[in-house]
Order: sequence, then C-alpha cells, then structure tokens
Amino acid sequence: MGIEFDTTTPEGWHAALAALQWQLELGVTEVIGEAPFNGYDLADRAPWLPAAQGQGAAVPARGGPPKAAEPYVPQISEAERAAQASDAAVAEAQARAAAAGTLEALREAMAGYDHCELKRGARNLVFADGRPGARVLVLGEAPGREEDMEGRPFVGAAGQLLDRMFAAIGLSRESPDLERALYITNVIPWRPPGNREPSPEEIAMMRPFVERHIALAAPEIVVLMGNVSCSAVLGAKGILRLRGTWTSALGLPVMPMAHPAYLLRNPVAKREAWADLLEIQAKLRAR
Ligand code: URA
Repeated sequence: MGIEFDTTTPEGWHAALAALQWQLELGVTEVIGEAPFNGYDLADRAPWLPAAQGQGAAVPARGGPPKAAEPYVPQISEAERAAQASDAAVAEAQARAAAAGTLEALREAMAGYDHCELKRGARNLVFADGRPGARVLVLGEAPGREEDMEGRPFVGAAGQLLDRMFAAIGLSRESPDLERALYITNVIPWRPPGNREPSPEEIAMMRPFVERHIALAAPEIVVLMGNVSCSAVLGAKGILRLRGTWTSALGLPVMPMAHPAYLLRNPVAKREAWADLLEIQAKLRAR
C-alpha cells in the first residue's frame, strides 16, 4: 500500500516531492501503473528479449521427469554455466565489434547485443558524444540517471564538472575545431540499476566494443576516468595510485584520472586532477 500525500497543501506537496526524489536516488526509474499487466507481454514492451519468452511461449513445467523428446542436458555447476555464458558473450561481442567498420555500425552492433543484462533495465543506449576524430577521447564508466534519460554520456552533475575541467585546458565536446574537440564515451552503454558499479563480467563482455570504439574514433590520447575504465583498458584498478602517470594501451598514450563524480565528493582531489589536466595539455602541445 502506498503512502498518500495531500498535495493541495505546501507541506504535503513538499513531502511528496521529497519522497519521489528519495526514490530516484534509490534508482527507481519507472512508476507502477494502476492497472495490472501480463508479464508475458514483455516481448512487446522489451523487444530485445528472446522471442521464446514472449506471449504464447511454452512455459516449462516445474519439477517432474523430463519428457522423452527433450534432449539430454548434461548437469554442470553454476560456476561452469556462468563461465560458458560469459565466454559466449565475449565471443559474440568480439565478432560484432570486429565487423563494425564505422561508428554508426558499431552503435548498431551494440544495440543488437543481448548478452548484457543491463540493457533490459535501461531506457537508452548511451553511445557517445562529441567529435569523432577529436585528439582526446574520454572514457567513463557507465551512464547514470540523466544520461539514461537523455541518451548522452556525462550530462549530469559529474558531466558538468567534466566539461568545466576540460574547458580549463581549451577542450570541449562542442568544439567544431577538431584540435580543441573532445570525444566522450563509456565502458558500459546501459545504466546499471541504482548506479551500482558494473561487474567484472559486464566489463569483460563490453571490452571488445570499447576497443573497437577507440580504434574507430581514432584519438591521439585516451583519458581513463576512474576505476572501471582502468579495469577495461589496463586490466588494473587503483585509480588513486594510477592517476597522473602516462601509460600506454591499445597503441595510444593513456592518462588515468580520478572520476569527476569522485571529485564532487572529494573536492580536495581537484588539485591533483588539475595537475593531470596540465599533463594532458602539455602532451597535446608536444605532439
Ligand atoms: N559517469 C560516467 O562514468 N559516465 C557517464 O556517462 C555519466 C556519469
């Protein structure tokens, strides 16, 4: 049973607004309707689900002996099943990424990829923003609520800080001049529920797309924002240790930096982030 608020009074209106904001912070992205709906209609509501899960599909009976016509399925452990599933997921991601010859083809290849559970809960695929061919590519973690709603990376509070940080060294995702432009994307294109950190399996299955994305966007320098992008590209975590030192990956110079969301929570770390930005500026000037 839901709590009722009298929104005709200022107190009730503010209480209702606070309750809604609290739910948004918890990660709620949809309200439940008044009328019930049939879960088997999900094929219409979520077309990425395999057709067999749609309405009219045979629902396997619980328990009981298997019918004679059913193929023999060897019993394997949960861990083996998970490993097999993720091998297949990575193999398909590799094949799709390799076949994509343009950024638009890559976006379509990702949109058609069904192994990542996060896709089911997301409103939009958040692919990229800025100018392909920009000298600097920024790789973030995953979309948050605002990015999921808008379909563009880094548009919330962390994104606004990111824009200000790069503007301070003369770079912008809006710049028509490729010399001063930025290209921005994420390791994960779908919002994780409640903004949780993407799992190692999710990072591993999206990694082939990230590699291909960077190759197709053709930057001179990659900036890794936070631990998730360091895991995906360097196979290493520990951003506070990694930040500020140039390393090399995918044939490019790579600079790990603290994520702007971390900087919002820890403003004293902005001093080091400024030093990292000056490193990037110096590298661009020297090339
Ligand atoms: N944080 C990220 O890492 N990426 C976004 O797109 C938004 C917030």
